[in-house]
Amino acid sequence: MIIQRFDHEDALASALASRLIDAIVRNPRLVLGLPTGRTPLPVYRALRDLTARALVDWSAVRTFNLDEFAGLGGDDPGSYRAFMQEALFDHIPIDPVNIAMLDGGAPDLAEECRRYEKAIADAGGIDIQILGIGANGHIGFNEPADELHAHTHVATLQRATLDANAMLFGGDPGRVPKCALSMGMATILGARQIVMIALGEEKSDCVAGMVTDLITTRLPASFLQVHPHVTVMLDHAAASKLV
Ligand code: F6R
Repeated sequence: MIIQRFDHEDALASALASRLIDAIVRNPRLVLGLPTGRTPLPVYRALRDLTARALVDWSAVRTFNLDEFAGLGGDDPGSYRAFMQEALFDHIPIDPVNIAMLDGGAPDLAEECRRYEKAIADAGGIDIQILGIGANGHIGFNEPADELHAHTHVATLQRATLDANAMLFGGDPGRVPKCALSMGMATILGARQIVMIALGEEKSDCVAGMVTDLITTRLPASFLQVHPHVTVMLDHAAASKLV
């Protein structure tokens, strides 16, 4: 793993946005894997700014988001689809047909998960997967457990994850859907490059475990150790427990 430390989240965001724009310039048909959450917001702001300044051509770029709440259609304001539209997609010249997201409102969620895996494979796989990390060590919605799913699946969210997502539901964890659709561990590890971003002291323990402890399903992010091309981008607080 390549570890990069930054003085401020804006410096991290601008470094990652520049890396992504460079990758798009080199490969206009880039396939990006994207997270939601608080951590990528500065990156999405930087991507919007760079796109406006450098007239980046997004027309052939394809995106796959990591996850979506079960039971919520894309038009629901609490959905990750709505989050992504507001944070990024409404502000860059991406072709809407190239945006892929899991549909939490699909009538058959297992079938929706199979459709998504096939769509990723049909796109030739993900070139660069951006990840955040839960304070409990989850990636996507692969929560700590005795066993993990390889492929896209319906996940049951843990209490800490419901609390962390309450902001999307008026601050009320009780309104957060209890299940979500998520890429699995093999889906994530199948990306050609992975960039993990983490900000703040609350991520410092799981970041240290992810980088230095043995691989365990109790810390799903630790599986990134087996991937040959991972960059971990941290602010000093998130890096503070790394030895
Ligand atoms: C979101 C996702 C999650 C988040 C993680 C960190 O699509 O897959 O794994 O990346 O929960 O969330 P924040 O960035 O809000 O701390």
